[in-house]
Amino acid sequence: MSALHAIEHLLNGTIGLDASSIGSPAVERAVRTRKEARALRDTAAYLDLVRTSREELQELIEAVVVPETSFFRDRGAFVALHAVVQERRLPNVPSEPLRILSVPCSTGEEPYTIAMTLLDAGLHRGNAHVDAVDISARALAHAKHGFFGPNAFRGTDLAFRDRHFTPSGARYRVNDAVRALVQFQRGNLLALDVVTGGAVYDVIFCRNLLIYFDAKTQERAVLTLRRLLKPGGLLFVGPAESPAVVSHCFSPLGLPASFAFRRDDERRAAAQEPAPRRAPRSAKPARTPAPLRIVAPRTKAPSAPAAAAPADLTEATRLADQGRLADAADACERYLRANGPSAAAFHLLGLIHSASDEPHAADVFFRKALYLEPRSAETLAHLAALREQLGDSAAARALRVRLQRLLPRTGTDA
Ligand SMILES: C[S@@+](CC[C@H](N)C(=O)[O-])C[C@H]1O[C@@H](n2cnc3c(N)ncnc32)[C@H](O)[C@@H]1O
Repeated sequence: MSALHAIEHLLNGTIGLDASSIGSPAVERAVRTRKEARALRDTAAYLDLVRTSREELQELIEAVVVPETSFFRDRGAFVALHAVVQERRLPNVPSEPLRILSVPCSTGEEPYTIAMTLLDAGLHRGNAHVDAVDISARALAHAKHGFFGPNAFRGTDLAFRDRHFTPSGARYRVNDAVRALVQFQRGNLLALDVVTGGAVYDVIFCRNLLIYFDAKTQERAVLTLRRLLKPGGLLFVGPAESPAVVSHCFSPLGLPASFAFRRDDERRAAAQEPAPRRAPRSAKPARTPAPLRIVAPRTKAPSAPAAAAPADLTEATRLADQGRLADAADACERYLRANGPSAAAFHLLGLIHSASDEPHAADVFFRKALYLEPRSAETLAHLAALREQLGDSAAARALRVRLQRLLPRTGTDA
């Protein structure tokens, strides 16, 4: 095993990162940065250091994690939280404070959004509490500081900013009433139940982390989250993460675009059942984007598809073309569960998430597709456009260069 692979392995064992989810070059870049910081030229020497120094391991983690987040990201989750709080559809009795966990909380936008939602629903410091956990000390320092620039406020519905922030130069400071509800601490999701010691939360937000894990680590993480959640409690995940949850004794909450699941102990006895065949219908995007024409890249037919799983991506492509994006994503996920990793399915999921206005999820899927098929002109073209949209012009340029090199040889018109 090369030193770089050994470092990827170490990261996988420590924080669960599947290097293929962000691409080996991203890990390589982080290692190069850290080698320079330590004046080391040799990756093997750096491996020795990072294996023995907790401080250096933390620095490497800081260099490799993806802290991307924003206020009211995937808003449907907060609409749903507001509704279940108001309708008292949570396990806590009225005399007990509502306990919510946000892991990973990154730079604080998510837990502060939860706190704003609780305040807007009529709760306050005495009857609600948010624990916010992340592996990155740097992200947590930013979160605690409580000042946010324009990039943290996306979209057009920013009325919450007038209610819960105070302008401070070019930035905004989150108000004390919001801050008072949130407590930040450093922690690793994969070891969290050991620290907190039981099912204490009524609601857990664990969004946009499972996508960076391989299937085995996802399962471990979901079981950890389950142990932290009270029976009947709610788990919110990211738009691309529902398939990792549905097979582990969780039932869809059934509120549109919430990506929320209820801990369902009646399903415990049936825990060995295969995963349900349908993802929740509730997992539809909040607004229905215009239908898109999708041509899935050609792929080899799977040799032995599992019973009742789609044999190819025809159904998923048809659903996507009709604008039925949640159903299309569901068909792709079923295809992947039955057939294993597939560049065509990841590419299609990238298109579906782009069309659902979920560029970060789309980015992850296009990168997965490219990892499996580095010479796919279509995926390179889409990822370049997406990177541009996300403000990463350097990456967009590099992808276009790769695309240019490819075109004369393949004659593709992508
Ligand atoms: C993309 S952000 C997601 C933030 C927020 N949940 C959201 O959806 O906007 C991913 C975060 O996961 C954190 N992270 C990565 N591995 C972790 C682990 N094993 N335990 C806790 N946090 C982790 C990173 O530091 C990063 O801040």
